[in-house]
Amino acid sequence: MAPLRSLALLLGIPVSRATAAALGHPSKRSPLINVEAAPPLGVGVPLEAFVSYSIEFSSFPDFAGNISAPNTFSNNLLNNLGSLAGTKPYIRVGGNTEDYAVFNSSLEVASEGIVDPSKSPDYPTTLSIGPAYFESYETWPGTKFIHGFNLGRNSTVARQGLIDSVPYVCKALDGGKLAYWELGNEPDLYKTSSQGPVRPANWTEQDYVGEWLHWTRAIRVAMEGSCPNLASNESFKFYAPSFGGTSNSLDPIVTWEDGLDADKDIAIISSHNYISGAAVLGVTLQGTLMNHTSNIVSIAKQLNESRLLTALPSSIDPDLPFILGETNSLYNQGRPGLSNTFGAALWGVDFNLWCATNNIRRVHMHQGTNYRYQSWQPIDTNITSKGTKAPYYGNIGVAAFLGDIVASPPDIVNLPLPNEEESAYAAYVDGKLARLIVINMMEYNATEGNNITDDYPRPVERYSFQLPAAVKGTAQLQRLTANGSDAITGLTFDGYSYNYELDNGMPVLMHNVTRGESVKVGSGGKMSVDVPRSSAVLIHFDQGATGYYQ
Ligand SMILES: *[C@@H]1O[C@H](CO)[C@@H](O)[C@H](O)[C@H]1NC(C)=O
Ligand SMILES: *[C@@H]1O[C@H](CO)[C@@H](O)[C@H](O)[C@H]1NC(C)=O
Ligand SMILES: *[C@@H]1O[C@H](CO)[C@@H](O)[C@H](O)[C@H]1NC(C)=O
Ligand SMILES: *[C@@H]1O[C@H](CO)[C@@H](O)[C@H](O)[C@H]1NC(C)=O
Ligand SMILES: *[C@@H]1O[C@H](CO)[C@@H](O)[C@H](O)[C@H]1NC(C)=O
Ligand SMILES: *[C@@H]1O[C@H](CO)[C@@H](O)[C@H](O)[C@H]1NC(C)=O
Ligand SMILES: *[C@@H]1O[C@H](CO)[C@@H](O)[C@H](O)[C@H]1NC(C)=O
Ligand SMILES: *[C@@H]1O[C@H](CO)[C@@H](O)[C@H](O)[C@H]1NC(C)=O
Ligand SMILES: *[C@@H]1O[C@H](CO)[C@@H](O)[C@H](O)[C@H]1NC(C)=O
Ligand SMILES: *[C@@H]1O[C@H](CO)[C@@H](O)[C@H](O)[C@H]1NC(C)=O
Ligand SMILES: *[C@@H]1O[C@H](CO)[C@@H](O)[C@H](O)[C@H]1NC(C)=O
Ligand SMILES: *[C@@H]1O[C@H](CO)[C@@H](O)[C@H](O)[C@H]1NC(C)=O
Repeated sequence: MAPLRSLALLLGIPVSRATAAALGHPSKRSPLINVEAAPPLGVGVPLEAFVSYSIEFSSFPDFAGNISAPNTFSNNLLNNLGSLAGTKPYIRVGGNTEDYAVFNSSLEVASEGIVDPSKSPDYPTTLSIGPAYFESYETWPGTKFIHGFNLGRNSTVARQGLIDSVPYVCKALDGGKLAYWELGNEPDLYKTSSQGPVRPANWTEQDYVGEWLHWTRAIRVAMEGSCPNLASNESFKFYAPSFGGTSNSLDPIVTWEDGLDADKDIAIISSHNYISGAAVLGVTLQGTLMNHTSNIVSIAKQLNESRLLTALPSSIDPDLPFILGETNSLYNQGRPGLSNTFGAALWGVDFNLWCATNNIRRVHMHQGTNYRYQSWQPIDTNITSKGTKAPYYGNIGVAAFLGDIVASPPDIVNLPLPNEEESAYAAYVDGKLARLIVINMMEYNATEGNNITDDYPRPVERYSFQLPAAVKGTAQLQRLTANGSDAITGLTFDGYSYNYELDNGMPVLMHNVTRGESVKVGSGGKMSVDVPRSSAVLIHFDQGATGYYQ
């Protein structure tokens, strides 16, 4: 937090903050947050489908269903985001099991997996897929996909299966469903994987690049025969290198120097990020997730990678967008009580917007069946019931703040705040302030365990803004809320629930939650909003009949 704090001081932003006060009586002593009239140069501009998903390869049939039994609940949740963002989320079908999936054209079922609890209780580490698997690409109208091909398993049978799968997957994705391809998940962990190494210890960046070029070329040859229009230079594009991190056993920078993009078929630089791990000692909701500094520290690795890459003009096109092709809170599928709470939803809003403001231009939030950090559980299992989970509401909050990216791509600016348990961002459209969001991540327990007393009233923090002179009139508020940071149910955004039980994931207005609040912009452009601890508020300046600019 130190650099931001000194930046705040330099900019003359007071670093004192609102103190806790009883509900309805927020402190009047609040920091004045200065909002510039126009975004500075070089701020983040998200790509279309900024809020996207990565779905565990082995779980994709659960999430999408198939032609005879499409998963309409999942489709409704994707539509909700699509109506805010202008496009449905892009779906990357990948993860560890992408590199376990061996295609067998004689397999009659979509997939057949074997879970080995000693390797992972959460997904199969032995997996066969058949032609029926690709039916799952047919169930979500208007959705674009990134299909993850297997690079990890390199037995003769697995390599043959890779090439045999090409006609099936390219036909499934032809006709506007293909976004990009991917070959290999986190190859920087192939030598060290805790599910079993798949390459020898002496495997180098150059070996990886050699294999990647060999097999992408072989896939292209197979596609020229089966789907020639997808084999064109324009369509045959990849997410790469999809490394698990920036400091594992292969260095992403070196792979580009070694010619990863020799064929100029990489469209997007994809990296993976988890801010910490489910079993890491000392991980807590407040200290790890509801902590803006955690996000700054974690994303610094990717910003470093991105900066080093743009300094390699001979091996890389400096204009390639940098994204997170797989990300979430705590690796190893999240921890219950943390990754599945409303606090994790607030974490997701701050994490995603910190990415957006730093030009990490798309985030694929990872999920799989029964995963603790999932945005939704697509089917009933004996572990988790089908339903919309807390992180989904964070995804909705981010999409609502960014607005229709296709129609009006926003510039996203972070507004430095003095405390690491809160953050704020501004969205500018056509150079004008359109929206603000405040994310208060000060832990407040809904159920029990509030240290002070069990009927400790929820404190409210007041945030005061100095707005650009042109902003006048009334701003409209939308709140992302729940009973507390530990709540796993009862979440709403702007008074709407997206829960499965209510209307199969379609929005349902709840009548026990306040909505429709507005706040006047005062004289001299001052404005204050009150934010209960553990909640977020979205402030719109661009809605209403009269407009707010004169
Ligand atoms: C492919 O699937 C068929 C049908 O289940 C099976 O008989 C065959 O052994 C499988 N091939 C391989 C290489 O596993
Ligand atoms: C489609 O999904 C249903 C429900 O899971 C399943 O019973 C059926 O076998 C699947 N069809 C194919 C072709 O896999
Ligand atoms: C699998 O990878 C190892 C290490 O790179 C290599 O020695 C072996 O020949 C590969 N096998 C196949 C079938 O490509
Ligand atoms: C790498 O290790 C493998 C097996 O561990 C060995 O067969 C191969 O010769 C080694 N390659 C080099 C270049 O040392
Ligand atoms: C496709 O790209 C390759 C490699 O960049 C280039 O040599 C070739 O001319 C391109 N083909 C067309 C049809 O543009
Ligand atoms: C927030 O995260 C940073 C970086 O990991 C850490 O140094 C700090 O102690 C955390 N704050 C709390 C309250 O745990
Ligand atoms: C950034 O990259 C440099 C050079 O590779 C490295 O020394 C440094 O530790 C990296 N910092 C982070 C936060 O990854
Ligand atoms: C839960 O379901 C899985 C997969 O269907 C099954 O293998 C397992 O035996 C079930 N466990 C219990 C406790 O019923
Ligand atoms: C909320 O509950 C958790 C778990 O009981 C506890 O560790 C934490 O300190 C509580 N937070 C507050 C603000 O009281
Ligand atoms: C809650 O109480 C525990 C133990 O008494 C203490 O360590 C912790 O700092 C307290 N947390 C808060 C948020 O007050
Ligand atoms: C939230 O709090 C309200 C008011 O105390 C209560 O009626 C409701 O049941 C709570 N919701 C959940 C999901 O616990
Ligand atoms: C509103 O009602 C829903 C459904 O009964 C409940 O889950 C939620 O917690 C309630 N919210 C409040 C603030 O009482």
